[in-house]
Amino acid sequence: MSTELQTLLRLKQRVYRDPRMRSHISEQQVTADTASDDLAQFWFKKMRKIFQQIDDYAKWVVPFANAERDFRFLDLGCCPGGFSSYILAKNKISTGVGVSLDPKSGGHAYLIDETVQDRHTILFRDITKLRVAEPAVTRISDGLVDLPDELTRREYDLIILDGHQLRNQKDKEALLVISQIIIMLKTTKAAGSTVVMKLSNAETTSTKRLLFMLDMLSADKPRSLMAYKPYKMHREKATFYAIAKGVGGGKRQQHQAYYLKHFEELWKKMLERRSSGREFRSDDLAFIASEDELELFGQKHQELCADVWKVQSEALLSRFASFETTYPKDL
Ligand SMILES: C[S@@+](CC[C@H](N)C(=O)[O-])C[C@H]1O[C@@H](n2cnc3c(N)ncnc32)[C@H](O)[C@@H]1O
Repeated sequence: MSTELQTLLRLKQRVYRDPRMRSHISEQQVTADTASDDLAQFWFKKMRKIFQQIDDYAKWVVPFANAERDFRFLDLGCCPGGFSSYILAKNKISTGVGVSLDPKSGGHAYLIDETVQDRHTILFRDITKLRVAEPAVTRISDGLVDLPDELTRREYDLIILDGHQLRNQKDKEALLVISQIIIMLKTTKAAGSTVVMKLSNAETTSTKRLLFMLDMLSADKPRSLMAYKPYKMHREKATFYAIAKGVGGGKRQQHQAYYLKHFEELWKKMLERRSSGREFRSDDLAFIASEDELELFGQKHQELCADVWKVQSEALLSRFASFETTYPKDL
């Protein structure tokens, strides 16, 4: 195990033991849940900055406008719209589709500037209620809505998966992740697309498996798969972004078809489990990689995530320092 991960795991144990840290985390949650209009603008600007950092780090995910080449993007969980807004401003001929929970159902407001809204189509939909595959059970009473046409076309140069369960939506996180992955697998271009996906807890087996999948689907070149924690993000939290380039292009289409089929099956299973809870179960993602494959991926996984763990550790250390807690000597 890398030293970065060892340090982080020790610090995470301290987080659970330190009541000041626990109350700090719950204060942050209350602030996020009761966002005022000013705070919504603040988050919008912050998200725009985060995407700029992702773009700079990954050199680049958004090209400047080129009259000979369209640039289309799909932004899942797009509101308030900071990411889309950055893309529309950087590439002046880009066009995009955003999907986000309707503010009337508790989703974030759509704050994209009116001057660029003509290049952006917003679809207010609950992604967990989209019929992203054909359920085995009857369609009539499944409570789902058909996928809009925009989510069935293989035309996006860039696909963002940033839909994130709000605290007022219980028990939907796994379904939200799976549905976004299915939409991504259905909408990449034959020439390959860039995928930016929010993930968390890089050390867990399920995240390691998702990174393995992105590695299998991305181009066979250096830096086709990256893990990055923007410094504008909540640095104490375990979230980060995976950036994968060339997803689904060339020979990788075979892998893509395999993953799509299995994710659709998992989605159907999730629907059938309505009453028994819909969190990920330990073997739900086992189809992505066998234990042997995961072990072989181990070294790459540690290298890929070292900076993510380091950034989170440094943030936790400075938070503890602000509480005037004494550090253990070995950290
Ligand atoms: C972290 S925010 C995304 C911020 C966005 N990337 C930006 O640039 O401003 C997560 C978004 O996911 C949306 N969301 C949560 N659950 C959803 C669902 N079931 N369907 C669609 N959107 C959802 C939330 O409303 C919120 O707008």
